[in-house]
Amino acid sequence: MSTLNNSTNIFWQECPVGKVERQKLLNQKGCVVWITGLSGSGKSTLACSLSRELHSKGKLSYILDGDNLRHGLNKDLGFKAEDRAENIRRVGEVAKLFADAGLICIASLISPYRKDRDACRAMLPEPNFIEVFMNMPLELCESRDAKGLYKLARAGKIKGFTGIDDPYERPLNCEIEIEQKDGVCPKPAALAGQVVSYLEDKGFLQVE
Ligand SMILES: Nc1ncnc2c1ncn2[C@@H]1O[C@H](COP(=O)(O)OP(=O)(O)OP(=O)(O)O)[C@@H](O)[C@H]1O
Ligand SMILES: [Mg+2]
Repeated sequence: MSTLNNSTNIFWQECPVGKVERQKLLNQKGCVVWITGLSGSGKSTLACSLSRELHSKGKLSYILDGDNLRHGLNKDLGFKAEDRAENIRRVGEVAKLFADAGLICIASLISPYRKDRDACRAMLPEPNFIEVFMNMPLELCESRDAKGLYKLARAGKIKGFTGIDDPYERPLNCEIEIEQKDGVCPKPAALAGQVVSYLEDKGFLQVE
């Protein structure tokens, strides 16, 4: 019988330098900022702005963007429900490794299903998973249509498009909710500032 595909006889190798030592080196605490929302809601824009802001403060972050990962790690996956689940699971595992490395890992993916996001949350100690919900109306995202995908989905040329013919399940317990103010979406730098303030308040940007 083949034993190639099972997880028996697997051990855990302890290493001499751990998360605590790496965090001291970086003077920050590793965590995952998980940005979820509809296509066109501004996830990647916020991720870039946040990363730039953290960099200017001398803090090390790394972006895991859904689009980019589908060029490599996840290029074997499509958009049916089980592929989306596997896509999110892999990104959750990689994000966990980056957080363990001491980085502020910024994951920006539509991640439409609550169960998949919550499974990633469960991979980390509770305060270290910071879910940011880009709560932008579908009409706004569709009017932006930066990639022209909504047009294709409305024309039936893309099937299973989130928000059109596949559901987006809103977070029930996110740490940060990004909304329009007086019908206007705040500037990316302002949104990044909101997340940086949260990280500062919770003590992620220094070690005691
Ligand atoms: N805060 C903002 N204010 C105004 N325009 C914005 C803002 N954030 C993003 N945009 C614009 O909205 C469009 C979509 O943004 P972005 O690519 O970041 O969305 P996304 O959530 O990453 O989408 P996808 O899931 O398709 O990757 C872009 O043209 C961007 O310039
Ligand atoms: Mg994007």
